[in-house]
Amino acid sequence: MVSTVDASSFVGRDVISMRDFSREAIVYLIDAVDHLARENKPLLQGKILATLFFEPSTRTRLSFESAMHRLGGSVIGFADMRVSSTTKGESLADTIRVVEGYCDVIVIRHPADGSARLAAESTELPVINGGDGTNQHPTQTLLDLYTLRQECGRLDNLKIAFLGDLKYGRTVHSLIETLSYFDCELTLVAPQGLGLPTDLIEDLRERRVTFEERGLLSDVDPDIDVVYTTRIQKERFPDQLEYERVKHTYQLDRRVISSFRKRVILMHPLPRVREIHPELDQYSGAAYFKQAHNGVLVRKTLLALVLGAYREQ
Ligand code: NCD
Repeated sequence: MVSTVDASSFVGRDVISMRDFSREAIVYLIDAVDHLARENKPLLQGKILATLFFEPSTRTRLSFESAMHRLGGSVIGFADMRVSSTTKGESLADTIRVVEGYCDVIVIRHPADGSARLAAESTELPVINGGDGTNQHPTQTLLDLYTLRQECGRLDNLKIAFLGDLKYGRTVHSLIETLSYFDCELTLVAPQGLGLPTDLIEDLRERRVTFEERGLLSDVDPDIDVVYTTRIQKERFPDQLEYERVKHTYQLDRRVISSFRKRVILMHPLPRVREIHPELDQYSGAAYFKQAHNGVLVRKTLLALVLGAYREQ
């Protein structure tokens, strides 16, 4: 089959949801990460990235900044909405229309679902979603997929268990939606009330993805390849007592890992609270810090692509 995706397919594009990209485009992007990792050219010299972070972030913001600096570009922005004019009542659309005059590309993180799409509709510049509420986190998904392929050598025929807060966790929503392009078996393990939202469950059914829902970690197939764990998203709970009830439901440690038949790949978008015991940090399948570090490579590639600076070799 002749590929219809090339570097020009990404120029000027917004990155709001992984669903805006085909399987072919996603694989192209992940391959491009490997190509760019070998290059050290200042591809984005003279370009400016604006990082508008209305919610806390360590990895996403800093890895975007690092990516831009490593490509010779520069960064402006804020990491705390309290220092922006939002506190004076400025609308998101107005903020974006002002900032578009200062930069070439925008990354936004915001507590409201749909805010990144709204931002993208307010400007002609490419807008990248760094996490919108409980909705999507596409660049995390790209680095998750890149790490998955690095660790497992493939993206099809994997048995993956998702563990933790599947209701509010946007990294899980983005990744699960994207995995429906690949031929994987999913096990969804969540405490009662924190399962995957029904629209996403319906979507998995429609796309004929093989999946099962479980409440206990001990119900997971011992032949599993990957466990993707997440933090219970404390800040999204309307009732903090409810958070207290579920906060430490699952904790992976050596004992749990030894119940699986093979070496499992352990993934987590971080930050972790108590989901993964630090004793597992030396375990050969622990991939969570690699994920965080891969974030720079993946975001370098994405920035170079949307700004039209990536060249196929
Ligand atoms: C995640 C997020 O912000 O959604 N963090 C990240 O970007 N790696 C996960 C989380 O906060 O639990």
